[in-house]
Formats: sequence, structure tokens, C-alpha cells
Amino acid sequence: MTLHVAPAGQLSTDQVASALRAATLAPSTHNTQPWLFASGPDGIELYADADRTLPVVDADRRELLLSCGAALFNLRTAIHAMGVHPATSLMPRRDDPDLLALVLPQATAPIDRRLAVLATAIPKRHTNRTPFAAEPVPAAAIGRLRHAAEVEHAWMPQLDAGQVAGLRDLVRKSHRVQMADPAFVAEWQRWTGRGQGNRDGVPFAAGGTVAADDTWVLRDYGTSSRAPSAGPLVVVIGTFGDTPTDRLRAGQAMQRVLLTATAEGIDASFVSQPVEVPAVRAQLRDLLGGGLWPQIVLRLGYGSPVSWTPRRTLDDVLVEPSPLIA
Ligand SMILES: Cc1cc2nc3c(=O)[nH]c(=O)nc-3n(C[C@H](O)[C@H](O)[C@H](O)COP(=O)(O)O)c2cc1C
Repeated sequence: MTLHVAPAGQLSTDQVASALRAATLAPSTHNTQPWLFASGPDGIELYADADRTLPVVDADRRELLLSCGAALFNLRTAIHAMGVHPATSLMPRRDDPDLLALVLPQATAPIDRRLAVLATAIPKRHTNRTPFAAEPVPAAAIGRLRHAAEVEHAWMPQLDAGQVAGLRDLVRKSHRVQMADPAFVAEWQRWTGRGQGNRDGVPFAAGGTVAADDTWVLRDYGTSSRAPSAGPLVVVIGTFGDTPTDRLRAGQAMQRVLLTATAEGIDASFVSQPVEVPAVRAQLRDLLGGGLWPQIVLRLGYGSPVSWTPRRTLDDVLVEPSPLIA
């Protein structure tokens, strides 16, 4: 049966389709796009796509929840920019852990100018793995990025020089652990280095040029050419809990930080090895003082233009609505 986008709450069919397309532009580990959506008369549901898990690198589905949280932030932001309030509940059904969020587009809301700017950044954001220029990210912009994380209930602590050095060691260590694991390498290779014509996975062209002296960019998705690079800004986004809801919040915060960066002309890529290896993640938690659960590590700066990655179509990601919205 072919499923169709339906009008939802205050949104027309075209507006629902446009908001769902914005949601699908979110980043996801290895571009797995592990999300599904349903639209019904009362609203929109976001589901985890259980067929798109990564059993080796993401055994506990933490990064799946981050990716889906990023898609949810895009969805909420796109709806908001239409002047409609996206009333959102996370994990609304205890008996269905794959139903991650329920969004009820309700009465029209005054448009928050900051969210309208972030909505225009959604199609412009791309993971940028190229070497970054020596130019530092201005302190005022870092403050706005930190604020973006906090608005979404996550934190981006200021790291001192010792913590940055410690983080660099943990990146090296976790990278070694992953590359020595044949199951990790096999899973990574299945999703990367892809040619044209795929709707998912990381294409060869998105790999960028890995910098020889840039120890933050260790996972090589594309070319093996080497170029010099200055040290970029590296930040950790963390939450005080580590439940599925905390992870969904972390994904929304991550996406708000990424879109804020895009709107400021700042490029970003992910350095997620130290949060993917559980023992190293525990060490990173200690390095941050023991209070925060590190959820994602980002590299921020000014790179060269990069190309698009593909996405599944709306037909690929639509499922039947549940009685909650039907
Ligand atoms: C939770 C998460 C972890 C990621 N980890 C890495 C990583 O370690 N290295 C990397 O180069 N890209 C990483 N990515 C970026 C994805 O590969 C990228 O989002 C995907 O290929 C889609 O491309 P786009 O971000 O340009 O839209 C990660 C993305 C997410 C959401």
C-alpha cells in the first residue's frame, strides 16, 4: 500500500511534506537515516527505523536516538517557521520504544526570528571533513553555540588546555580500538565510500581531504590525500542523564548547535569515536568532571566547500499513523 502525507493539525498537506523533507536533511551516523514518520489528522509521529541500526558501532542505539533527535529538531523548526506551534512529546508511549516523538501542530504562534534563521540553515548544513583554516572561531560565536545547546537542555562545557589534550588522546585511543575490530571495519565499509545513485550511506565524494596533522579527523571516509591544517575548535555536547529521552534531547541540541554554526558561516564535522567506545566514553565523562554524559564531539571551524549527501525519499520513510494521530 502506498502511504500519503496527510494534512496534520494546522498544517496543509504541502506544509507537512515540506516539514518532513526538512526533517530528513538531518545528519545521521554513516548516513543511515534511521527514522520513519507518520502523518495523521492530529499530528506527526517520529519512529526509529529498527531496520537501520548499526549493531557494532551503536549497539545501544544511542547514536540512532541522536540522529532522530536531529531530525526532530529540523521538523520542529520547519513547522515553527510556518507560524505554527509544534507541541512535542518525547517517547509518548511506554509500550512502544520505537515511537520517539509526537508532534501536534497547534494554534499559530508568533515566529521566533532565531528559529526562522535556523530553518533557512537546514538545507545549507553539510558535514565538512575538509581541513579547517587557522582562523579561530570568535568567542561571541562560541557563546551563541553554547547557548544553542542549553536552550535544548544540553551543555557544551568550556574545555581547558589539559582537557583538550586529554580528549585528543581519547580520540586516538578509541580510533585504534575501532580500527582493530574487524566487525566495526566491516560495518563502516558497508555504509561508506559509495558511488552515485544510492539514497543512503556516505558517498566517496563526501570524505574530504584528511589533514595529515589534524588528529581530530581520523575516520577516513573518502580520499587518502593529505593536506596540512591548523587546530580546529573541538567541543563536547553532554547531558546530565543518559536515558533515551536524554539522548533525543542531545540530538536536538546537537542539531541546534550545528544549524547555529551554519547560520554563522562556521563549518562542522563529527569526531564521535570517543563516545562510541563505551570504556573510552567513561574516561571522557571523568575528564569532563564526572557530571555530564558526553553525547557527541564536534569539530568546528572554516573549511572548503563540500558536496551533498543523498537522502531517502518521503515515500521511503512514511509509515501508517497510530491511533494517537489517526
Ligand atoms: C551521531 C552522529 C555521529 C557521526 N559520527 C561521525 C564521525 O565520527 N565521523 C564523520 O566523519 N562523520 C560522522 N557523522 C556524520 C555523518 O556521516 C553525516 O551526517 C551523514 O553522512 C550525512 O551527511 P551530512 O551531515 O552532510 O548531511 C556523524 C553523524 C551523527 C548524527
